[in-house]
Amino acid sequence: MAESTARTISPAQGKLGVLCVGLGAVASTFIAGVELARRDKARPFGSLTQLATIRLGKRTENRTPLIKDFVPLTALDDLVFGAWDPIPDDCYEACLKCGVFDKHEHVIPIKSYLQGIKPMPAAFDQHYVKRLQGTNVKSGKTKRDLAEALRKDIREFKAKNGCDRLVIVWCASTEIFIQPGPAHQTLASFEKAMDGNDITIAPSMLYAYAAIMEGVPFANGAPNLTVDVPALEQLAKDKKVAIGGKDFKTGQTMLKTVLSPMFKARMLGVAGWYSTNILGNRDGEVLDDPESFKTKEESKLGVLEYILQPKMYPELYGNLYHKVRINYYPPRGDNKEGWDNIDIFGWCGYPMQIKVDFLCRDSILAAPLVLDLALFFDLAQRAGMSGVQEWLSFYFKSPQVAPGLYPEHDLFIQHTKLKNTLRWMMGEEQITHLGSEYYEYGKE
Ligand SMILES: NC(=O)c1ccc[n+]([C@@H]2O[C@H](COP(=O)([O-])OP(=O)(O)OC[C@H]3O[C@@H](n4cnc5c(N)ncnc54)[C@H](O)[C@@H]3O)[C@@H](O)[C@H]2O)c1
Repeated sequence: MAESTARTISPAQGKLGVLCVGLGAVASTFIAGVELARRDKARPFGSLTQLATIRLGKRTENRTPLIKDFVPLTALDDLVFGAWDPIPDDCYEACLKCGVFDKHEHVIPIKSYLQGIKPMPAAFDQHYVKRLQGTNVKSGKTKRDLAEALRKDIREFKAKNGCDRLVIVWCASTEIFIQPGPAHQTLASFEKAMDGNDITIAPSMLYAYAAIMEGVPFANGAPNLTVDVPALEQLAKDKKVAIGGKDFKTGQTMLKTVLSPMFKARMLGVAGWYSTNILGNRDGEVLDDPESFKTKEESKLGVLEYILQPKMYPELYGNLYHKVRINYYPPRGDNKEGWDNIDIFGWCGYPMQIKVDFLCRDSILAAPLVLDLALFFDLAQRAGMSGVQEWLSFYFKSPQVAPGLYPEHDLFIQHTKLKNTLRWMMGEEQITHLGSEYYEYGKE
C-alpha cells in the first residue's frame, strides 16, 4: 500500500446539514427518499455512496469493500435537511405537488417528518426564472444585502440544528443564460456588482457566494453559471471550500456520454444526433421559457463535441448535426420521455440508425445524485480538498474544471476518476487496468 498519498481526513462526526436551494421535485424526492431509506421503507438505488463497492489492489486480492466502508462518509442517520424556495410549500406539500412518490406508500407514512422541513425565504428574482412567481422571497436593497441574509440563514440553520458541518446543493430552477463578464472576474468586481445590483449577478451566485463565505461546500445541479466564474473559484480557493457543478447528469445526457464513447472507440462515424424530450413538471415549464432553455441547451450540446473530437476525426464527426429539444407536455408530469435518433455510419460509409426511447423519471434519477454529491462534497471538504472538485464530474453534464483544461464527459472515464480519487485519498494504489503482472510477459 502506498501510504504516501493518503490524505488526512477529519472524521465524519456529528450532524451534516444538507441545505437544498429549491424545494421542488428533485429536492423533495431526495429528502423523502433518504428518510424512507432511514426507516427501511425503501432502498437508495442509484447511489454509489450507499451501494457501490470499490476494488482495491490486484484482482487476485479479493478486496472490494463498500465505498461507504472504505472512505469516512457521513451516515444517513446523521443528515439534517433544510431548504430555500420562493414557493412556501413544506416538503410534504412539495412531494404531493410534484407527484413523484406514491402518496399512500411513500409520502403519507412520513408526513409529519416532511412537514417539519419548511423552506426559508429565497433570494429570488423573476427576471432570472421567467415562468415562476414566488411569495416566500427575501427583500433587500442590494444583492449584497440578500447574500448577507443568506449567510445569516446558513449560520442560524447550523446553530439551530446542532450541525457539525453543512453542504449546499443547488436543486433550484434553471436561470436565464448568462455569459461570464467583467463582474465575475475578481472578488472586488463581484462584490461591487452586488452592491450595484448588476444584472449579471444572478440569485444562484448569491447563494454560492454566501456558501463559500461561510465555509460551506457548494454543488450546482443546474446548468446556471453560478459558481463557474473566476471570482467565486478564487474565493473558494482562498476560503478553502469545495465547489463544483454543473447540471446533474441523469437521463438523456447520461446515455449520450455512454453511447458516444462507444462510437469513437470503434471508429464509427456519426452523421447526426437528434434528441427530443417531453416533460410535464415545473422544471419542464421553466425550461419552456427560451432564455432558461438556452442555458440547458448549452449544457446538453457540449458533451458530443468533447467526446467525439471532430477536429481530430473530421471524416467521422466533422459534419455531425446535433439538435436537442425539450417540450413542455403537462400530462407526463415528472415522467420524462426522451427520444434519440442517431445516424451513424460504418465500413465504407454505409449508414445505420439507432433509436433510443428512455421512459424515465426525472427526479428518481436525480435524487441519488444529490445524496452522493452532498456526501462526497463533505468528504472532500474534510479531506482539505478545496476549489473545483473535478473528480465528481461523474455527476454533471457540464463539469467544472481547472482553467485551461477541457472536461472529461465519458461516463466511465469519470467513474474511474472518481474511484481513483477515493483510492488516492486513502493511500491505495491506482488501478490502471494494465494487468501485465498476471501474465508471463509482465514478469520478464
Ligand atoms: N431531474 C433531473 O433529472 C435534473 C437533471 C439535471 C438538472 N436538473 C435541474 O435541477 C433543478 C431542479 O429540478 P426540479 O425538477 O426539482 O425543478 P422544480 O421546478 O420542481 O424545483 C425547482 C425549485 O426551485 C425553486 N427556485 C427557483 N429559483 C429559486 C431561488 N432563487 N432560490 C430558491 N429556490 C428557487 C422553485 O420555486 C422550485 O420549487 C432544475 O434546475 C433542473 O434543470 C434536474
